[in-house]
Amino acid sequence: MIIIGFESSCDETGVALVDTQRGLLAHALHSQIAMHREYGGVVPELASRDHIRRVLPLTREVLQSAGVAMDDIGAVAYTAGPGLAGALLVGASVAQSFAWARGLPAIPIHHLEGHLLSPLLAEPRPDFPFIALLVSGGHTQLMRVDGVGAYALLGETLDDAAGEAFDKSAKLMGLGYPGGPALSALARNGDPQRYALPRPMLHSRDLDFSFSGLKTAVLTRIKAAEKDGGLTEPDRTDLAAATEAAIVDVLAAKSIKAMKQTGLKRLVVAGGVGANRLLRERLVSTMEKLGGEVFFPPLEFCTDNGAMIAFAAACRVNAGLVDLSASGHAFTVKPRWDLHDVCRPAEKAVAQP
Ligand code: KG4
Ligand code: ZN
Repeated sequence: MIIIGFESSCDETGVALVDTQRGLLAHALHSQIAMHREYGGVVPELASRDHIRRVLPLTREVLQSAGVAMDDIGAVAYTAGPGLAGALLVGASVAQSFAWARGLPAIPIHHLEGHLLSPLLAEPRPDFPFIALLVSGGHTQLMRVDGVGAYALLGETLDDAAGEAFDKSAKLMGLGYPGGPALSALARNGDPQRYALPRPMLHSRDLDFSFSGLKTAVLTRIKAAEKDGGLTEPDRTDLAAATEAAIVDVLAAKSIKAMKQTGLKRLVVAGGVGANRLLRERLVSTMEKLGGEVFFPPLEFCTDNGAMIAFAAACRVNAGLVDLSASGHAFTVKPRWDLHDVCRPAEKAVAQP
């Protein structure tokens, strides 16, 4: 069965076609980064309007590039949450209207499930079970993934997400939006040891994270530099390197701890921060030493995209978790949505905190 999937939870409009047997057929993406840049962050109302402008041209694009006709499509998937309410409503209403007009089932998908399963879009595919490090602008979580719909939360951030720590520190340093890639590019030439920044909760026994203290530490360094005429270019480069190193140290250490605690040997990294070069290098070299394996989605599937949504729907269909005979098209979006709500009933019982 061919599934068309729509992603519009934040600042990327994504549309994709996935065949439940053959995998990804085509995907198209429009990033709003350039539009939001001048405001220094995502403006929800502008995001919603832009999703409206982009979604149908992108839909035509994927149908054409895959050579798929409307009649070939068997189900329609969309991100139902979590995310920005207005932005989610665009993808959800387009998907539900599409499904209603063609008499097809509509499949609401949890955005984080899309990220969690996205490494399975690449070869080699990790086998279940694995540990997933989910690191995006809104989330930092370590999950145990035993199969489709079988997710258990092992630890999460108590305050800022890792992506937020990148973005907020970058903003303090006067770097553009989104801060993560900009900070990381600058850090390449810096000395990570010149500024000593904290590694919050690095040695705590649990698998939780805390990143809000890091931006305060960065701010303190900037304020100190201002007394001496402000950050010079080399200062900024070294501070970027120190910030990136602090975030990566904590993410890598907690991921390894999760693997040791569960005895699992496979780690999957998903979400926008998974594009970070230092994090990738660190995890690859650590796994070589530990005899474990680390998997990353292809870079284009690390940040938000439609492929992961259509693919998550295909995984749920193949796992028998979707009632394809359901007909109603009344719908709601869930700006806040617990991932445990999409777990299989048996998993829900054990996974509930
Ligand atoms: O998964 P994503 O595209 O959107 C959310 O669902 O949040 O993640 C976006 C986050 C942003 O905070 C961005 O700064 C961060 O991922 N990011 C990076 C890199 N590329 C994206 N952070 C560090 N290094 C990168 N190369
Ligand atoms: Zn995301």
